[in-house]
Amino acid sequence: MLKVGIIGAGRIGRVHITSISTRVKDAQIKTVADPFLNDETAEWAKSMGVEHTTKDYMEIINDPEIDAVLICSSTDTHSPISLEAIKAGKHVFCEKPIDHDVDKIKEVIEALEGTNLKYQVGFNRRFDHNFEAVQRAVAAGKVGKPEIIKITSRDPEPPSIDYVKVSGGMFLDMTIHDFDMVRFLAGCDATEVYVQGANLVDPAIGEAGDVDTAVITLQMENGAIAVIDNCRKAVYGYDQRAEVFGSEGMVALSNDSQSSAVISNAEGVTGEKPMFFFLERYMEAYGKEISDFIDAIVNDKETPLNVIDGLKPVLMGLAAQKSLEEHRPVKISEIM
Ligand SMILES: NC(=O)c1ccc[n+]([C@@H]2O[C@H](COP(=O)([O-])OP(=O)(O)OC[C@H]3O[C@@H](n4cnc5c(N)ncnc54)[C@H](O)[C@@H]3O)[C@@H](O)[C@H]2O)c1
Repeated sequence: MLKVGIIGAGRIGRVHITSISTRVKDAQIKTVADPFLNDETAEWAKSMGVEHTTKDYMEIINDPEIDAVLICSSTDTHSPISLEAIKAGKHVFCEKPIDHDVDKIKEVIEALEGTNLKYQVGFNRRFDHNFEAVQRAVAAGKVGKPEIIKITSRDPEPPSIDYVKVSGGMFLDMTIHDFDMVRFLAGCDATEVYVQGANLVDPAIGEAGDVDTAVITLQMENGAIAVIDNCRKAVYGYDQRAEVFGSEGMVALSNDSQSSAVISNAEGVTGEKPMFFFLERYMEAYGKEISDFIDAIVNDKETPLNVIDGLKPVLMGLAAQKSLEEHRPVKISEIM
């Protein structure tokens, strides 16, 4: 049985604790660490079968019994804790993004070189049943050569201003999932990014130096053109859609709802709103990404996403930020 340590017991840490406890057969959580761990979280963790809780994550790093670490703490801790875990010989699952600074991600890449350690980044949407099906159809050639890729990604409500201030900006915090999805669906990297961004949802987001609405166009290596539209607030829920149009057809997915019931009456025809947010929409995907990470360790396979897959969307996010600031298309090679 693989022993796992979880660093960070906030929103996403709790999701992964739940997944490992309830659906991953080959792994057991030995320790959960969080400096702000309170009695309620510690009790809850114990109820999920966690052996030990602590406020000091170094107890996980220094524990020779722990094989793998899940880094679910705030973004600024991801690359330093990755380096410590790799040095201690542990496999790492790291939440997105690895870092906002490309040089720091490169340090993680270098630390992994020559080791047999697995490193997976938390781009959970690749494990979603709908997005997976679209990718499979494209990869199998069902729509021919991809020509236009469209992603709509809108949150139901904006995060707090305190969060916005340390988020690294919308492109590195939110759009980063869409950058990963564009790579996943296209099967190749982007070469150039162009952004139109605006502050339409909340003036406080603008005052904090960020945008809350954007349309991003990307030139892909295979010739396809991609477009992502983002907004921090969609009044009808979490809007997560994608479409790939190609020389032989088109594949698209629609939002998931609590039910597919449609009521038709004298007032009109109505259905359910999309599921509220990522915790509702992607619970299954979070479980699958962790199952696949554990499976890669136990059966010595490649992880479905590696450290380079963690780097690429950060480059795209930095190019997007530069494009917004300089109001021009930016090549990814300018960021490298
Ligand atoms: N993949 C996804 O869909 C997804 C969703 C949400 C968050 N995230 C990422 O996960 C990370 C955490 O986000 P969140 O929403 O859970 O935040 P959160 O604020 O709810 O939780 C973060 C936790 O990390 C803890 N922490 C901070 N420093 C620590 C340290 N040195 N050691 C141990 N714990 C520490 C904090 O006390 C807090 O409890 C962020 O990097 C975010 O980008 C990813």
